[in-house]
Amino acid sequence: MCKLAVFASGNGSNFQSIIDAIEGGQLQATCEVLICDQPSAKVLERAEKANIPAFVFKIKDFENKSAFERAILEKLRDYDVHFIALAGYMRLIGPTLLEAYEHKIVNIHPSLLPAFPGLDAIGQAFRAGVKVTGVTIHYVDSGMDTGPIIAQQAVEISDDETEESLRKKIHTVEHVLYPQTLAHVFEKNKQEASNK
Ligand code: GAR
Repeated sequence: MCKLAVFASGNGSNFQSIIDAIEGGQLQATCEVLICDQPSAKVLERAEKANIPAFVFKIKDFENKSAFERAILEKLRDYDVHFIALAGYMRLIGPTLLEAYEHKIVNIHPSLLPAFPGLDAIGQAFRAGVKVTGVTIHYVDSGMDTGPIIAQQAVEISDDETEESLRKKIHTVEHVLYPQTLAHVFEKNKQEASNK
């Protein structure tokens, strides 16, 4: 069984969809721990409700990013974490975690990458006036919303779309696509491990 850590910074609706899929048996994994960088994030309440250990690491409490990530890494090792899913974690992953979890970190982003990387991808797409945007799930590398793409799903922007209605559409897609994609990735990893 894959031991997962979720990293999140905000509301945590994607964290919720992952733990619900685990609970519902659609995702063969355990969510061992939530890592959060914002003490007031709503995702912490969700973790508490689900009885998932949650830890806040504030970058300001550390000398530098490497020390910040070393502290996170220690926590991940305490929980024997195999895999990391970023779910609205608004921080670049540095070399410390990338080296420790090579090809084992995935991210969800609310656009069809490489279009609209970075902050507020939904607002960026809406303001650009594109007719199609979507959701991307990709392996994480050192860039901002870069790294090999695993899955994408398009979302159409209708003529009477508002930014709010688009946000809802995107989240609805995310909440299905992320657990589904993680299930495929874990299955592939399991097969590769058993072929070794
Ligand atoms: C999601 O839309 C996710 O795709 C996005 O943050 C939101 C978090 O929502 N991530 C990024 O923009 C990463 N660059 P949530 O806290 O409700 O899961």
